[in-house]
Amino acid sequence: MKVIRADKCGFCFGVRRAIETAVEQCTGKGPVYSLGPIIHNPQVIERLHGSGLEVVEDPEEVPSGCTVVIRSHGAPSAVIESLRSRGVRVVDATCPLVKRAQERARELARGGYEVVIVGQEAHPEVKAILADVGRATVIEDRAPESLRAAKRVGVISQTTQTRGTFRHIVAELIEFDFDELRVFNTICSATMDRQQATLELASRVEVMFVLGGRNSANTERLAQICAASGVPTHHLETAAELRPEMTAGRTAAGVTAGASTPDWIIDEFVKTLEAL
Ligand code: F3S
Repeated sequence: MKVIRADKCGFCFGVRRAIETAVEQCTGKGPVYSLGPIIHNPQVIERLHGSGLEVVEDPEEVPSGCTVVIRSHGAPSAVIESLRSRGVRVVDATCPLVKRAQERARELARGGYEVVIVGQEAHPEVKAILADVGRATVIEDRAPESLRAAKRVGVISQTTQTRGTFRHIVAELIEFDFDELRVFNTICSATMDRQQATLELASRVEVMFVLGGRNSANTERLAQICAASGVPTHHLETAAELRPEMTAGRTAAGVTAGASTPDWIIDEFVKTLEAL
């Protein structure tokens, strides 16, 4: 079995930075909290828990006087302000590229545009932006007819969106003939690089393995890109999920990984696959 690893895969700089920030705060002098998992990878979260990072979903669970790390996906400004007002020390590990998308959305809302976010409504990055701008339309795959009534529309993207979906939705919106349509492509460069490398690799192998948390939006997108290219695709979290039948009859396998998948998971997986 020939195993080829994607040129660009695994940790992006935003994820690396968030983990380093969290680890720096875990000094052993009392609990440190993160508001929701700091990144979408259960194995990394488990390791960070061992270092003293407690995940809480509700900001009210963070006691006054303690430290909370804001995850790479960001958090609503009102939540951060309320934590600070209760005497919680807030360490912001929001990825700068997520911050750029947040800023674009706020700029559009301030300018009186109907804000459109191309992304998943339930994703924490989108939820934080929605909370900040107050009102926005989230489009996952098709622009709703109700949007036709808008005059001035401003579009941004979830940072981990695929370029194909973003282009397709923007093309649909152009047909709506708004008086004004402003588009900011806020898909991050790490996402685009990983998608491009994945697509190239998928065309050269007989089966693709996409590694990463099942709750990771960018990993899910990589799996969708592989599957759409026609190659049999398996989205797995670790080498423990690998089964010999997944590679039966194949001679070349490709391995890629989402931006929140650490090198140790990828290395272990490649080693296990090569040994099959
Ligand atoms: Fe940031 Fe993009 Fe990674 S938004 S967290 S660099 S996937």
